[in-house]
Amino acid sequence: MTYQGLIHRYGQYLDLPAHIKTISLLEGNTPLIPMPRLSRELGCELFIKFEGLNPTGSFKDRGMTAAISEAVGRGAQTVICASTGNTAASAAAYAARAGLRSIVLIPEGKVAVGKLAGAIAYGAEVIQIQGSFDDALSLVVEITQKTPIALVNSINPFRIEGQKTAAFEICDDLGSAPDWLCLPVGNAGNITSYWAGFKQYQKGLPQVLGVQAAGAAPLVLGHPVEKPETVATAIRIGKPARGEQALDAAQESKGRIIAVPDEQILSAQRILAEEGVWVEPASAAGLSGLLAESTVGKFEAGGKRIVVVCTGHGMKDPSIITESFKSPKVIPANYEALIGVIEE
Ligand code: F0G
Repeated sequence: MTYQGLIHRYGQYLDLPAHIKTISLLEGNTPLIPMPRLSRELGCELFIKFEGLNPTGSFKDRGMTAAISEAVGRGAQTVICASTGNTAASAAAYAARAGLRSIVLIPEGKVAVGKLAGAIAYGAEVIQIQGSFDDALSLVVEITQKTPIALVNSINPFRIEGQKTAAFEICDDLGSAPDWLCLPVGNAGNITSYWAGFKQYQKGLPQVLGVQAAGAAPLVLGHPVEKPETVATAIRIGKPARGEQALDAAQESKGRIIAVPDEQILSAQRILAEEGVWVEPASAAGLSGLLAESTVGKFEAGGKRIVVVCTGHGMKDPSIITESFKSPKVIPANYEALIGVIEE
């Protein structure tokens, strides 16, 4: 039988109510890509879980199939979320598929162009907030408490249920859990989901390395960050909704949450692209954390099986690349000119 999406494949492991009406874009089933060059350099067996290959280009589709299926099943007509971009695009796509109205709140001027375009293309009503993601999240929580509009941020427990499936897939592909799982941490829904998923699936437990951007690292600093700033706009979050659970996951797994400066995140983005995997900046945070820890001798990679989660596709945020890139040369359309520049 052809693949029918996550609720079909893993529904028996997900705590979803009977009233769900499955809405799927055949999300999930993403590849676990071996990285031979990096594995050699680090002396480990490294894989990328490439979540950028989901239908709207990020891991958010895993939780969204569950959240929208639940919302439409109970008769919701409008859904809302706050977002740094990926949740917005995902909510908009699944709402469109379900025939629901979608409203997305984003921080003004701080959302990558591919995400904004996605939300608009899928028909969301996009509202920019003169404030941060954290301000937007407070607003959508308030409005969903006072109106019948359904909240589809990862505060919604069904988002977590859907996102657990990434842990299941990794265990199914490898035969057991890896030794380490490295991933970016923003609002902390994903790290919470992975940890719940590994615990439930009983194929072993990884140690978890959660990575925040240095300018938006409330879980490392131990307090909220009023004005988070990072080039990795997806994780530009100062007050993570599931911060406590993220800290628990790190601690229970004998892992940790660390902060990495923007330059190292961008460097990890380049390293991944050099092995053919182009991800958005936030998605490179997991690898940047692993590299940072290895460099200072805090990470014994020797012989270990490590999965680095790359949460979103590079095409989501093309301007970060083109802005630092010399414009391509322009030549006359003839052979001499072409051979001239190639042999330059
Ligand atoms: N990576 C990407 C590409 C993201 O878009 C996000 C979160 C994260 C990592 C962090 O995941 O929040 O579960 O810890 N993006 C949210 C959004 C906030 O609105 O799209 P998290």
